[in-house]
Formats: sequence, C-alpha cells, structure tokens
Amino acid sequence: MKVLLIGAGGREHALAWKLAQSPLLTTLYCAPGNPGMARLGQCVGLDVARHDQVIRFCRDSGVEFVVVGPEAPLVAGLVDDLAAAGIAAFGPTRFAAQLEGSKGFTKDICARYHIPTAAYGRFKDHASALAYLNSKGAPIVIKADGLAAGKGVTVAMTMAEAEAALADIFAGRFGGAECVIEEFLEGEEASFFVLSDGDAVLPLATAQDHKRVGDGDTGPNTGGMGAYSPAPVMTQALCAEALETIVKPTVRALKEMGHPYRGVLYAGLILTRDGPKLIEYNARFGDPETQVLMMRLDSDLLPLLMASATGGLSGLAADWRPEAALTVVMAARGYPGDVEKGSVINGLDQDFGEMIQVFHAGTALRDGRLVANGGRVLNVTALGRSVAEAQSAAYGAVDRIDWPEGICRRDIGWRAVERGA
Ligand code: AMP
Ligand code: GLY
Repeated sequence: MKVLLIGAGGREHALAWKLAQSPLLTTLYCAPGNPGMARLGQCVGLDVARHDQVIRFCRDSGVEFVVVGPEAPLVAGLVDDLAAAGIAAFGPTRFAAQLEGSKGFTKDICARYHIPTAAYGRFKDHASALAYLNSKGAPIVIKADGLAAGKGVTVAMTMAEAEAALADIFAGRFGGAECVIEEFLEGEEASFFVLSDGDAVLPLATAQDHKRVGDGDTGPNTGGMGAYSPAPVMTQALCAEALETIVKPTVRALKEMGHPYRGVLYAGLILTRDGPKLIEYNARFGDPETQVLMMRLDSDLLPLLMASATGGLSGLAADWRPEAALTVVMAARGYPGDVEKGSVINGLDQDFGEMIQVFHAGTALRDGRLVANGGRVLNVTALGRSVAEAQSAAYGAVDRIDWPEGICRRDIGWRAVERGA
C-alpha cells in the first residue's frame, strides 16, 4: 500500500519510522517531511494547505491512504476533502477536530455529557467576561478560544494577571475575541491516548510531558521539552476511569451529533482529589509523546490507523513492548524565543543501537550537512527496563551528539524516576 504522511516534525518522523516497518507498506511519501523522514520515504514538496494539490498527488501516485500528523490540516478540513475525493485518511473531520480547535465546543460537550472537567463560563464580550471573573476570583484560568499554538492559556494566580489576559484576548491578540474562563484545578497532569473509529475505542498508552523550557519545570512554556511513557501515575484503575467517564462519553457525543470521531484522541488530564478531569483534547498525536509511543508499540501501526479511519477497530489490539520509553528534546539555544538557524549537527550517523532512535524535528540539509532549522530540532528517544534506565540511555545518546548550539533539559522523567519507576 502507498501511504502519504502529512507533516514535518519529530512526531511525523516517529510515525514514519513505525509505518516503514509495516509489511503492508510499499511506498511511503512524506509531505513535506524532513531529512530524517527522507531516509524512510520519499519527501514531496506539496503545499498541504492546497487540498486540491494533495488530492491530485494522491491520484497521480496511487496513494491509497493518507495519515495526517499536525492539527492545522485537520482543522482546515483536509480529511473531509480527501474523503469527498474517495481517498481514505487518518484523522478527524473538520467538525470533529473542533475538540481541539475550539475549547468552547469541548466544554459544552462536557457539560451535556457530564464529563468531569473544570467548571467554566464562555464569553464573547469583555464586560460579561469581567463580571464572571469578579464573581469567581483568583486563582483562575483564562483561555482564548481557537488554536493558539498552546499560547492562549493563562493560569492566573492573581486578579491582575487574569484581567490582563482578558484584555489581551478582547484586543484580538489570538485572532477571535472569545474566551473560556475556568476553575483552577490542582493535581498532576498526564496524557492518555486512544484511537477511535467513530464507535469503538482502543486505548493506546499514557505519557507525561514537560512543557516548561527549564529544569525543575521552570521558565516559559514550550511545545514540550521531553516525554516518557507509560506514565506511572496513570494506574490501570485511573485509565479505566478516564476511559469510562471522559473518553467514551466524548466519542458517543460526536457520534450522536452525526460527526463520528475517527482518529487519535489525546486527552490531557489532571488527576485531582476527585478523580481524573479533562483539561483539554487534542485531535492528533502529541509531539513529543508520539516519539515514545512509537518506540513502545509492538503492533503494526498501519492496520490500526486504517481501522481508525475506515472502521473495524473493535476487532484489533495494540501490543506494547515491556520497556518504558523516554525522549529528550534538543532545541536550538534561545528556544522558545528567537533561535538562530543553520548551526551544524554532527554525530547522528553513529550506531546508537536498537534501543535508541534520534528523530528529526527541525532539521534541514545544507550543502550536504545537517543543520538546525527550527526551535525543537532533535528528539533523542530511548527504551529502557524502567523510566530511569530509559532516561540514562537517552542522555547517554544526547552526549554523543556533536551540536554545541543545542540545549536540552537534564531532568526529563523526574516525576517517574522519583516514584522509583
Ligand atoms: P491547555 O492549553 O488547555 O492544555 O492548557 C495549558 C496548561 O495550562 C495545561 O497543561 C495546564 O497545566 C494548565 N491548565 C489548563 N487548564 C487548567 C485548569 N483548569 N486548572 C489548572 N491548570 C490548568
Ligand atoms: N506535547 C504537547 C502536545 O503535543 O500538544
């Protein structure tokens, strides 16, 4: 089968690495791909925002299945347009992707289906948002509606911070002027990934990531500086509870709305004293969580993604390696602020062994040399018998990479390691 994978980050390199192992795969195309993916498939310079171009490429090249990595093409309706052209694609439709694209949409489903989440109000004008804020007080959480690349959320410990966040939103800093104000929840966060075919739900795995740029979870938020899986804090009982109280009612809601959710559903949970509550959904695989999930997955990925897209998931299982996996993000100095591109990376051609994979995120080839080409650049990923072993293997590999301009956190996995996992 010829497969087209959409995306260019570390998540997509990990998906490509796993798809390339499938006996069902004949050719892998990646659009646009990256230098790491170019070793596994053929990179094609499509403009992914031009759905007609993508459809024409699929027809001309005999692509039978498209896997969409990032959220932007999902929210733009790429899967809808491919389906209308008779091409099967992995990922939710534009409507279903609102679970990620619109916080208000998700909160309204939670209210209707009694899904545990923070209490909230949804506002389109500044005055009523302020009135609600004043009635609740701080600490409180202010969220811009719509896709804000993770930057639209303010956890306000004071009223002044909350008021400033509302002023930003209603000045149009995030595009639209709509917000969700929600109750501040306390607890440890964990991610739970499932596949759905619109009806059946297949739990995949748990993970925890590290959003802050600095050691000890300090400094500004980022797209994620590292992750590990499984998350020991997510016991089997908590997974079962999250599945029954959060994930399944959501899948049922979308089905009842006439827009079944097909794809991966990534639930961001907070483990409160009253049990797991939903913080947010993503309608795609996590980045860098996918890197650890793919290292751990024993089953063939392709049939799982196909069943999610076209049905039949209930008859399938996902098998996992017994090891834990951990990934360390190497970023360009300055990330998440401005970074300099073009510094040379050496040492990736050595043999790291089968327990280590270095996935490319923001790299490019210039004059035959591998260079940094973005904020998050490499994802050094390791398997180990415990999170602690995976951690030391990953850092061992980091230290063998010759890239003086690269930075990384040195404490990825600390929560699990502290728990003795
Ligand atoms: P989100 O973009 O909705 O995932 O929010 C980003 C981060 O803000 C989350 O990972 C949490 O750390 C934090 N956060 C979001 N909502 C809440 C909440 N209701 N209570 C406490 N922290 C929150
Ligand atoms: N690592 C967080 C995300 O993919 O949204």
